[in-house]
Amino acid sequence: MLERLNSIEQEALAALQSANSKDALENWHTMYLGKKSPLMTILGDLGKLSHEERPAIGKRGNEVKKALEAAYADRVEAIRKAELQHSLTAGALDVTLPGRPQSRGRLHPHTQILREIYAIWAEMGFQVYRSRDVETDEYNFELLNIPQHHPARDMWDTFYTTTPGVILRTHTSPGQIHAMREYCPQPIRVILPGMCYRYEQISASKGIQFLQMEGLAVGKNIRLSDLLGTMSEFNRRIFGPDRKTRFRASYFPFTEPSVEVDVSCANCGGTGCGVCKHTGWLEIAGAGMVHPTVLKNGGYDPAVYSGFAFGMGPERIAMLRWGISDIRYFWGNDLRFLEQF
Ligand code: DAH
Repeated sequence: MLERLNSIEQEALAALQSANSKDALENWHTMYLGKKSPLMTILGDLGKLSHEERPAIGKRGNEVKKALEAAYADRVEAIRKAELQHSLTAGALDVTLPGRPQSRGRLHPHTQILREIYAIWAEMGFQVYRSRDVETDEYNFELLNIPQHHPARDMWDTFYTTTPGVILRTHTSPGQIHAMREYCPQPIRVILPGMCYRYEQISASKGIQFLQMEGLAVGKNIRLSDLLGTMSEFNRRIFGPDRKTRFRASYFPFTEPSVEVDVSCANCGGTGCGVCKHTGWLEIAGAGMVHPTVLKNGGYDPAVYSGFAFGMGPERIAMLRWGISDIRYFWGNDLRFLEQF
């Protein structure tokens, strides 16, 4: 029996050395120290032994049990340490390495100039009114006093959809009708920013898709002098106090009278250069007093109400502001361009 205990001890200690994982250790523990293990069976059956045998076997049995338990605890600790070491080297992290640079995005020059323009109009009491890009012929032309086959339609090269009467808006002006029909009979002060679409030969100054910013003020006793004063103030705020504003008589079907708004050239200070085509002036908007027919189409009685409207090109303003020579850069998606803003 004592020999049996010795061989259990030897076998168990040898097996323990080859147990290299937590699972293997658990199996080992069941096999050599579990309730049904040979060692535990011997210790459990001590009562069946004779008086002479019992003390020696009991003593030795307990020694073996203690030795196995101690060896087991050491082995558990050794494996835990090995696993920790492994995870430290395998997942090694060099906290002294420099971080990966975050490439920060930025606002497109369109967005930047629009926000600047919104802020100026907001201070003058104009709020942004959003209007649709896909319009009907009726809103884009007819309600703006441009009937079918009217020669003024030649001013807008139009994209037609396959649905009859549905087009891409050629200007933001149809938004005037939407705003008037929504607000009538209250007074209105809105700006209507957005994309416009024209079937055009693309060039440095013309694209098939471009930004426009419409403005509309409707109320009682609004006069041409209000339009002139408001546009001059806008120019002063966006281009600075040194620039002059000029109004030229013009024609638009939806305004009467109509004007073009010019600002003195920043490049030459008004003496004439290549940028202003040697005129000293740059055109920045069309404007005028809202035509009585348009007021009527919006629901306002032209005998009681009057208003002014304007349409400007924010891209044009951005080009003047930042010295951008070609309108196509805005859509070119070239980082070398975009990162400059
Ligand atoms: N809609 C015109 C265009 O795209 C611009 C314009 C001119 C708008 C005069 C207006 C205006 O509101 O009064 O050419």
